[in-house]
Amino acid sequence: MRVLVTGGAGYIGGTAAAILLERGFDVTVLDDCSTGHLEAVDSRATFINGSILDNATVAKALQGVEAVLHFSAKSLVGESVTKPEIYWNTNVNGARILLDEMRTAGIKKIVFSSTAATYGEPKEIPITENSETKPTNPYGASKLAVDYMLTSEAIAHEIAAISLRYFNVAGALKSSSGWLAERHDPETHLIPNILRASDTAPLKVFGSDWPTQDGTCIRDYIHVVDLIEAHILALGAATAGSHQIINLGSGGGYSVREVITATEKVLGRQVPAEFVERRAGDPAVLIADITKAESILGWKPSQNIEDMVRDTWDSFQ
Ligand SMILES: NC(=O)c1ccc[n+]([C@@H]2O[C@H](COP(=O)([O-])OP(=O)(O)OC[C@H]3O[C@@H](n4cnc5c(N)ncnc54)[C@H](O)[C@@H]3O)[C@@H](O)[C@H]2O)c1
Repeated sequence: MRVLVTGGAGYIGGTAAAILLERGFDVTVLDDCSTGHLEAVDSRATFINGSILDNATVAKALQGVEAVLHFSAKSLVGESVTKPEIYWNTNVNGARILLDEMRTAGIKKIVFSSTAATYGEPKEIPITENSETKPTNPYGASKLAVDYMLTSEAIAHEIAAISLRYFNVAGALKSSSGWLAERHDPETHLIPNILRASDTAPLKVFGSDWPTQDGTCIRDYIHVVDLIEAHILALGAATAGSHQIINLGSGGGYSVREVITATEKVLGRQVPAEFVERRAGDPAVLIADITKAESILGWKPSQNIEDMVRDTWDSFQ
């Protein structure tokens, strides 16, 4: 079975392509390398170097494909506030073009990278798929728009669709061609930033007075390999005419202080850190309820925070 991986030069899409190939799938990657990296594209994949915003390119990428894993997107929250047009275009129009070309080609299965950012500031913890969706930035809103798009098209056109709402993805994969790891620019994710902290550029911890046990924010982290496992299960679980939304996290949370402690354990040394003001719009706690992933996909995460930190650290060496 051939799968199209959009965004397969990126962190998560590149990892997905490598694991799919290991499992015997044929893979086509479509990526314009705008935030991804050419060398992250698995050499065994068919690579289409182009944009999801170009119909002819998407049609070419869909040749011989039976299912799509749609990772390509812009995903910097701050940039989405200052340049929302990029997010509506790449994330929403990109999905629109992909679905149009899938319909023309008769391809009816899609797994979409949605996000916890669709929920905004949660009223309840853990967050279930029935929790209110009220994104606090254009990035989350653009992903929520695609979720709505998928719900309507699944019903109208017998599409089998699953949106996976990721919480904080971390960790790395050592593939046959080397490490596949986070290389965002700017890097806004905690674990790579903790690992890069130094005496001259200490880690900035935003707020020490949150209503949590140790005063720092709590987030739910999921290893990228566990995340891709859920995508492969979703390919099997998606059913025609239905769009399912499923959270992917660990079902538990770690405070920033706890992630620092886990990192210090892995590194065997202290991490230089300084406390600064809270950031506007940061919720105190984000934890996923993952009961639905367990019941529908038969999935459970297998790796813990130290695994995520260790793999990221090893990928840096
Ligand atoms: N990393 C996380 O913690 C996280 C959390 C929630 C959701 N997500 C979602 O997961 C997906 C992958 O995230 P990532 O961290 O791997 O990001 P990434 O930036 O590493 O990967 C995105 C890829 O999409 C490609 N792309 C962007 N615009 C494109 C276009 N117009 N045409 C073709 N390709 C294009 C980029 O070049 C890049 O390779 C995104 O949809 C993101 O919103 C990520």
